[in-house]
Amino acid sequence: MTDPVHSSIAFLDSGLGGLPYLQWVRRRRPDLRFTYFADTGNFPYGERCEHEVRDAAAGAARRIFARGTPKLLALACNTASLAALEEIRSFAPCPVVGTVPAVKPAAERPDGRPIGVLATRSTIDSPCLDALIASFAPDRRVIRSAAGDIVRYVEESLLGEADPGPGAIMLRALESLREAKVGSVVIGCTHFLHILDFIADHMGAGVQLVDSREGVGRRILELIRGDRAPENSKRGTDAFFVTRGGKNTERCRMFARLFGLEWAGAAL
Ligand code: DGL
Repeated sequence: MTDPVHSSIAFLDSGLGGLPYLQWVRRRRPDLRFTYFADTGNFPYGERCEHEVRDAAAGAARRIFARGTPKLLALACNTASLAALEEIRSFAPCPVVGTVPAVKPAAERPDGRPIGVLATRSTIDSPCLDALIASFAPDRRVIRSAAGDIVRYVEESLLGEADPGPGAIMLRALESLREAKVGSVVIGCTHFLHILDFIADHMGAGVQLVDSREGVGRRILELIRGDRAPENSKRGTDAFFVTRGGKNTERCRMFARLFGLEWAGAAL
């Protein structure tokens, strides 16, 4: 039997963050087959130094390609994209699409107010984020907030039986952005998409949340435009894989169900 990775549209993140990207694309191309990879063994990426993230994400990508060649790999993680996109492209047998904080669309908004960037510590400290700001928002005040707590909340508590709600974490992470009266907040970590409503509530009306789902999703659609599911053959199921290790495997299984993916377990 052919490996499920073969000819799928593959998504890789450290955990649950890439699922909203997969969902965005799958809604528009339900004819294609999708695979999802959570590098649970190396989670969280955002608290590692750049070379550790590069080694972890590149290692996971190599193991994906060792199973089969996807039509495309989406690196649905800002932290991994900033650290490892070029490296993964250097050995990938298929196109690789990365995810970067949507500073450009935020800067294109005409309000002229400060821009908030909410991301992991690794992304906040990355020279690539400096370069994005220098290119697209050179004249704007940009306030950065590292919010690893939100990543952990999404991975460990969200929708679980003992979910305390993200209240206190939100207040801490968003305090500097609220004080600066930002007009927009760049959602610079894919995990935060799972709790967009809470972020919007805590920022209040009039603050626009800007994320990269549509930008990344459109790029993927463009690259797979000519691809059709083979006629007269079963499309097959979409599968969720994790890497070995990590305590969040059970939560991944729950999210696999929520997003309609078949559980493939620690098979990477
Ligand atoms: N989802 C990831 C991102 O977009 C990082 C989460 C983590 O810290 O592992 O940056």
